[in-house]
Amino acid sequence: MPATIVVGGFWGDEGKGKIIAYIANSDKPVIIARGGVGPNAGHTVEIEGKKYGVRMIPSGFVYKDAKLLIGAGVLVDPRVFLKEVELLGVADRARVDYRCAIIEEKHIQADRGDEHLSKKIGTTGTGCGPANVDRVKRVARQAKDVPELEPFLTDVPLEINTALDNDQFVLVEGSQGFGLSLYYGTYPYVTSKDTTASSIAADVGIGPTKVDEVIVVFKCFPTRVGSGPFPTEMPQEEAEKLGIVEYGTVTGRRRRIGYWDGKMARYAAMINGATQAALTGIDKLDKECYGVTEWEKLTPKAKEFIEKVEDDIKVPVTLISTGPELHQIIDLRKEKL
Ligand code: GTP
Ligand code: IMP
Ligand code: MG
Repeated sequence: MPATIVVGGFWGDEGKGKIIAYIANSDKPVIIARGGVGPNAGHTVEIEGKKYGVRMIPSGFVYKDAKLLIGAGVLVDPRVFLKEVELLGVADRARVDYRCAIIEEKHIQADRGDEHLSKKIGTTGTGCGPANVDRVKRVARQAKDVPELEPFLTDVPLEINTALDNDQFVLVEGSQGFGLSLYYGTYPYVTSKDTTASSIAADVGIGPTKVDEVIVVFKCFPTRVGSGPFPTEMPQEEAEKLGIVEYGTVTGRRRRIGYWDGKMARYAAMINGATQAALTGIDKLDKECYGVTEWEKLTPKAKEFIEKVEDDIKVPVTLISTGPELHQIIDLRKEKL
């Protein structure tokens, strides 16, 4: 059985949390593994009227039979991790690779106190950049050095590759998005690491030959928090007129909003090696699409837009999200793949 990687195609907050939770519930992976930078991410999962914002635990936690693993490439803030473990009641199945680098209070202070990071770049203030600096300097502590994490330590690549060898399905989730990649994003207005599928695979310790599907998540109206170029950004008043106002999950900052960017989407699909795409927020394009679960019930405006997206990115849009709740989705994977 294959591994599937889910990544973001714009500047993060594309709705990866919802897409991953949906796939987890419908495809029942044995393992859901998190790659990406660290607790700068905030994935939102809404199920049965309850809303969760997770920063460390994989958003697929809603599927109760999966192990929830955090790959060695990810930075772990033990306080955030332990709090989420308790809140979600996942102590029996949440595990951390023993090599994860640790975010300490000094990293958070350095992130928030540094003019360049906090003011110019507009970081999330979660200590990720300074912790990655220490990791590169090879002075960062690792998960195995933290007694509170002892019960949760594991060898993530070994667990994942064993599952794959046994023909079991593994779901790997990225965080942030293409435009925030340290290599390919809008440098210097980026995060402290590459965010594309290849790096996410390396974060959790699977080789490129083991990855079968890469799903890039796009939102109909891209958003960005923090500073940096945003070619298709619209004025705030226009976004308000369209009824699109969003706030960050981690920082509570208002998200900047823009129009669909086909050029960026195509480039993101290319570098990620997308095999399919998920599109969220179609209900923001046309309110009549809210909650729809069948392609036939989408409006002509929505269908035309999705066809244009496919033309831009050159891979099929297989998942169309029509609202924040898990069940508000059109799943075309059987028809299109
Ligand atoms: P990062 O890992 O931080 O990049 O976040 P993310 O990609 O998981 O996205 P995040 O949860 O931060 O933001 C997406 C927001 O859109 C959340 O509030 C979701 O509940 C919401 N959302 C997801 N899909 C849809 C959709 O189809 N329609 C609407 N209206 N909202 C959606
Ligand atoms: P850092 O990752 O906290 O260093 O922040 C660097 C840039 O990435 C800032 O513009 C942040 O707003 C942005 N960023 C980091 N993580 C996320 C995320 O999960 N969603 C959206 N933006 C993010
Ligand atoms: Mg987010």
